[in-house]
Amino acid sequence: TYIWNGKREFESGVNFSVRSEIHITGTVTVPENCTLYVRGGGKLIIDKGGELTVQGTVKINSDGILRNFGSMTVEKSGTVNTYGWLINREKASLKNYGNVNVFKNGCCNNYGKFTNAKNAVVYVTGHYYVRENGVLNMYGKMRVQPSAFVRSYNEINVYSGGVINNSGRIDVTDSGVLYLQGGKLNVKENASVTGKGSLQLTRFLALSNDGKISLAINQPQIRQVNGAYYVGEVLLCNKKYPLPEDFGDGVFAEAYNALEQMRKDSGYSMTVVSGYRSYQYQEQTFAYWESLYGTAQAEKVSARAGTSEHQTGLAFDISSLNVSYINTYEGQWLAENCWKYGFIIRFPDGCEKHTGYTYEPWHIRYVGKEIAKQIHETSCCLEHYLGLA
Ligand code: DAL
Ligand code: ZN
Repeated sequence: TYIWNGKREFESGVNFSVRSEIHITGTVTVPENCTLYVRGGGKLIIDKGGELTVQGTVKINSDGILRNFGSMTVEKSGTVNTYGWLINREKASLKNYGNVNVFKNGCCNNYGKFTNAKNAVVYVTGHYYVRENGVLNMYGKMRVQPSAFVRSYNEINVYSGGVINNSGRIDVTDSGVLYLQGGKLNVKENASVTGKGSLQLTRFLALSNDGKISLAINQPQIRQVNGAYYVGEVLLCNKKYPLPEDFGDGVFAEAYNALEQMRKDSGYSMTVVSGYRSYQYQEQTFAYWESLYGTAQAEKVSARAGTSEHQTGLAFDISSLNVSYINTYEGQWLAENCWKYGFIIRFPDGCEKHTGYTYEPWHIRYVGKEIAKQIHETSCCLEHYLGLA
């Protein structure tokens, strides 16, 4: 067993072979024009606190092991070719700005954080596993070749600019998630994405599928309490899930307190134009809009009695009832920050098909901080978040 501590930089043009067990505890750089071989039976271990920077090439032969407990960076000029084991352990970080190739019979096991940066490529003809606590963040490209197998037990996030080109097989297990957060998942002919995990699609999604995608979709569990519908602790109120006539008697204190805090922090007045509205009051409200615009148009901007969020006591119309509100400083601030206080913009722009209503930048709904944050990060609207879209 050797220990490389301190700073070590190989001479350019000189290759090095690992045939026994070598630990990196300091910082090691493999420069351009240099190949570091991890031979069969050899182990290269980046210890916690150790760093390996690859500007040249690292080649892991069949039965060779590179195990990372620290940090590993593949720079733009760098390449890692594995025919053996590339293992990124819990809490370790592997950042790829260049190329990581997992060849046939090779395996990348990721328990830590693997980031594939913009313009970087992960090419898989072998196996790539995202393990229980592992995360794969894709800003670049992943090519899953016909013979390849990618399996996620945890999270694969494909961000804007990121692409997974799948000609092989991607399995998302029970606990696994494949998030498309603006990136692309291309499924080629004869390729598949399968599993019991979830495929979460955000509104910037681009999914093109010539192959097969079959994921067991967890149906949301909708329960009824005293006639009102809930998914988990979230009270539902829309055209499909109305409230009983006698539901509600005012604004919820928790929601109002959150609004007060938001006002204080923002410095904006955020006048409540409309808060709680009873079933009977909503009947009149809808009738008013109907008389102005006719039934079809009224349906898009106003709720029929029993289906208005205002009856929940968790919704507020803030300052204006005009779409131009989003062009004011206050409207912008609200759109960008209300999630931090537990609110969502309930009827976002472009979500009419999910919510049933046109854009209302002034209408906020209280869902609590945790859920508001999740919706902000993963979904376009409440229906989408709850799996009802
Ligand atoms: N304007 C919203 C949809 C309501 O009437 O509740
Ligand atoms: Zn409203």
